Amino acid sequence: MCGIVGYVGNQKVSNLLINGLKRMEYRGYDSAGISVLQDGKIQTIKKSGKVSQLEKLVDHTLYDSTIGIAHTRWATHGEPNDINAHPHHSSDDKISIVHNGIIENYAAIKKNLQEKGYTFRSETDSEVLAVMIQAIYEKVQCLEEAVRFALNEVDGTFGLLVLSSHEPDRIIAARRGSPMVLGIGDGEYIVASDASAIIQHTRQVVYLNDNEMAIIKRDGFETKTIMNEATTTHIQEIEFDLEHIEKAGYEHFMLKEIFEQPETFRDAFRGRLLADKGNVKLGGLTQVQEKLRQAKRIIITACGTSWHSALVGEYIIENLAQIPVEVEYASEFRYRNTPLYPDDIVIAISQSGETADTLAAVYETKQKGATPIGIVNVVGSSIARETEAGIYIHAGPEIGVASTKAFTSQISVLTILALYLGRMRNLSQSDGKRIAAEILEIPDKIRRILNRSDEIKALAKKQAKSRNYLYLGRGYNFPVALEGALKMKEISYIHAEGYPAAEMKHGPIALIDENMPVVIVATKDEIYEKVISNIQEVRARKGKVIAIATEGDENIKDYANHVIYIPSTLPMLTPVLAVIPLQLIAYYTAVELGCNVDQPRNLAKSVTVE
Ligand code: AGP
Ligand code: GLU
Repeated sequence: MCGIVGYVGNQKVSNLLINGLKRMEYRGYDSAGISVLQDGKIQTIKKSGKVSQLEKLVDHTLYDSTIGIAHTRWATHGEPNDINAHPHHSSDDKISIVHNGIIENYAAIKKNLQEKGYTFRSETDSEVLAVMIQAIYEKVQCLEEAVRFALNEVDGTFGLLVLSSHEPDRIIAARRGSPMVLGIGDGEYIVASDASAIIQHTRQVVYLNDNEMAIIKRDGFETKTIMNEATTTHIQEIEFDLEHIEKAGYEHFMLKEIFEQPETFRDAFRGRLLADKGNVKLGGLTQVQEKLRQAKRIIITACGTSWHSALVGEYIIENLAQIPVEVEYASEFRYRNTPLYPDDIVIAISQSGETADTLAAVYETKQKGATPIGIVNVVGSSIARETEAGIYIHAGPEIGVASTKAFTSQISVLTILALYLGRMRNLSQSDGKRIAAEILEIPDKIRRILNRSDEIKALAKKQAKSRNYLYLGRGYNFPVALEGALKMKEISYIHAEGYPAAEMKHGPIALIDENMPVVIVATKDEIYEKVISNIQEVRARKGKVIAIATEGDENIKDYANHVIYIPSTLPMLTPVLAVIPLQLIAYYTAVELGCNVDQPRNLAKSVTVE
């Protein structure tokens, strides 16, 4: 949540920071601001709204500064107005900070500082950092020490950049629970929440650890813990290219990402699926292989779309490996006293690898002595680093706030993981081969659905006036119904509910009338006839049925008002195909309604606060 970026080097900083913010705007877009050091003084421009609003103001201000910090906000404390926008200054305007996260004990700190005569301007929690650093600086006369002491006083999470006219040659960066990456250029450094703001400048990066800080100057940088212990740095290379974070001719990132799915689904199993052996090789799990063999239970924890893929994973793993699987919202897992045993495996699924609740569930797992495994997209992210072992989904940067390709890539990984666990147990080689052969077919089958996107667009247009939607599915496709409804809600603000098809009669059926479109996944499998009965129940109450059906199923046309066909596959792989039309319906509906598809209201891409 929120993107922060700082630069120290030889280039003029203001436009460089604005470009960095644009790359990270998907992380938050309530307000934006920059601070630069100009003629020995901090100059700050900040504005509610998108980065483009800020850009107009910055364009009219001629700074030639080469050091500065910037922020794009997803508000937690205080409404998104100009005053609450970051950067925030100390009372004497000599220190400026940008902050990502929440300072939980800010109220007590603020009161204490106010009693000492310090003044505050905003309603944010973040401002206390600036004022507290000022108060400590006045005593210790050293910026680094002042930041360190302040950070030892705060509870909560922070990704923090500090700029000060007291020591104008440096930026101090620090993190706890919020991501921070330092890009190392030639005589220049760029530090940001996310590698996408850095790649234009350098591919060499250092990921800061929790409770680590960096003192960054033009001629070098130094890292240490916030307890002042020395740390060693490990320089890594950014894995993606600039083109991955650009729209490549598509109108929106979300549409580009939907259309990338034939490739991204494949990239998730490429080099791992040994189709001729009916088996799977997962290098990232080598060190926990024995634990996986012994495991009596798996818990999968995640949020949002990743939680939906976890539900699909539950069904596939239980089927192929016969290991009991429980799926739990990370936000619930962390706050109830979940019983965990040393031989439990906890899989944390997260696109961003930074979701605060999921990260906390990983910490909880470690603390209770169970084994955490990550299924993550962003390389080097906090969850990837905090888990003992893991599998990257390799979907490339996902910029659209509504997750699409990460979902199908997560299922790709969960399927091969289930195969891997199954083959460790009782799954036969011939079954393994049969499933592997079908996995190989999926990218082409996704492509066939995408080729019919015009048909889905026309349908979405026709339905766009509906104020409600119901999504139904059974078995493997129940999570698909949840995901279809989430996509619709997120980007078009239409109320949508996902339900197991057979549960409808226990309540939601009361909602059905001639104005209610009901999207039902009704693919040909062993419960097809049951789903047809559920369709009949909807039709009997005049609901409009949009069926996602298997190619060749002519029978369904007698029951549904509209049929969208998907190719036939194994039941366990249908979620990957069935979700594609649902992503497209949500996308085209939102476009038809004129909604901001890539940056829907109130949301942000990675939720690094609780
Ligand atoms: C999906 O469309 C959402 N924007 C959201 O639910 C997301 O899946 C959730 O916040 C989890 O994110 P993560 O996968 O990065 O942990
Ligand atoms: N808690 C801070 C605020 O509300 C920072 C939020 C963010 O991470 O953008 O301003």
